[in-house]
Amino acid sequence: MLTPADAKARSLVDLEPVASDSLLQLIALAAADPRPEKIDVGVGVFRDGAGNTPILKVIKEAERRLVDTQVTKAYLGSAGDKRYAELLRPILLGEHAEDDRIAGLQTPGGCGALRLGFELIATANPAARVMVGTPTWPNHPPIIAAVRLERVDYPYYERGQGAIRFEDMREALSGAAPGDVALLHGCCHNPTGADLDEDQWREVVRIVKERGLIPLIDIAYQGFGRGLDEDAFGVRLMLAECDEVIIAQSCDKNFSVYRDRVGSLFVKTGSASATSTAMGHVFQRAREMWSMPPDHGAAAVHIVLEDPELRSRWLVELTAMRDRINSVRQRIAAADPRLAFIGRQFGMFSMLPLSREQVLKMREDHAIYMADSGRFNVVGLSDDQIGRFTDAVVEALDA
Ligand SMILES: Cc1ncc(COP(=O)(O)O)c(C=O)c1O
Repeated sequence: MLTPADAKARSLVDLEPVASDSLLQLIALAAADPRPEKIDVGVGVFRDGAGNTPILKVIKEAERRLVDTQVTKAYLGSAGDKRYAELLRPILLGEHAEDDRIAGLQTPGGCGALRLGFELIATANPAARVMVGTPTWPNHPPIIAAVRLERVDYPYYERGQGAIRFEDMREALSGAAPGDVALLHGCCHNPTGADLDEDQWREVVRIVKERGLIPLIDIAYQGFGRGLDEDAFGVRLMLAECDEVIIAQSCDKNFSVYRDRVGSLFVKTGSASATSTAMGHVFQRAREMWSMPPDHGAAAVHIVLEDPELRSRWLVELTAMRDRINSVRQRIAAADPRLAFIGRQFGMFSMLPLSREQVLKMREDHAIYMADSGRFNVVGLSDDQIGRFTDAVVEALDA
């Protein structure tokens, strides 16, 4: 144990440097490249055909209304905007929207929801292990580590085949102990684009139920894959079959409000009163971490969802984003049979079967920036960059 004198001997200058986030490093490298033809497919935001990430028209309209009508900025409490969370229920939970065993609250983005969901698990059962299919979104492992839960990795994806290693997934989940957590991507798997199909979801749900696991579903891209309802298939099936389910949701992508930090956490237990107790712990953890979520983005989403006209215009804008993602996927897939798998995947990300050396060579020769793993954002490409990108990928695959 440190004595007060030892503690004094160490100060902030004694801190070890932290390895910087590789994706943020990549963005900085791309930004610093002077070649005008450079392509940045490392970045994780939606871009339109012209290469921009515009603010949705409905969000602009909602923000105008917010400025005109908001009369106070008094505290809202740890749950944030309660009406916002209510309005999300039918979109996310579908036929389970009225289930009083499910409660939710506003969080600072999907990240805040994930952290809070894992905090709840660690509070209930610090011995729980978290089963994580790899590769996964790079922020999952540090969030799990931050709440001091043990992580157990299993292989989820075969990069060369562009396919899910479903047998490995089944085996890993079947070997988990009751109370362990199955971390699952609701749709538009990041970084692979490889989503479970309906039969695979059924099988995962069966194993989760049989083994007594707690599913924590991360759904950050609802509406970017096949449609709002289709993308929530796994979430809703899990709710139909299991007593305990945790859902970490984000509106940051499907409302394009990334920096405004708009998310939610939903918790289901076997009874309304147990859920209410669990939510007491959730509020307590939220209060310790951020006290209350930021209001602006969720208030704008609230206005859009409350107003039937804005809501239907949002659906049109969301459909346009989804259509662009899927049409860029088809164009890439059509360029070479070895890229056909990209046309069968969903969401913004896929992984090219390239080595780190090939990725670095594309960076040097063609100013194309993607993660060393070959993960790239399909809509990082503007319309006029797609041909040059696929030519460079095919050249790398042929080499
Ligand atoms: C799989 C996944 N979960 C959660 C998030 C977090 O989203 P947010 O920006 O709302 O915190 C992301 C964002 O990239 C993601 O890809």
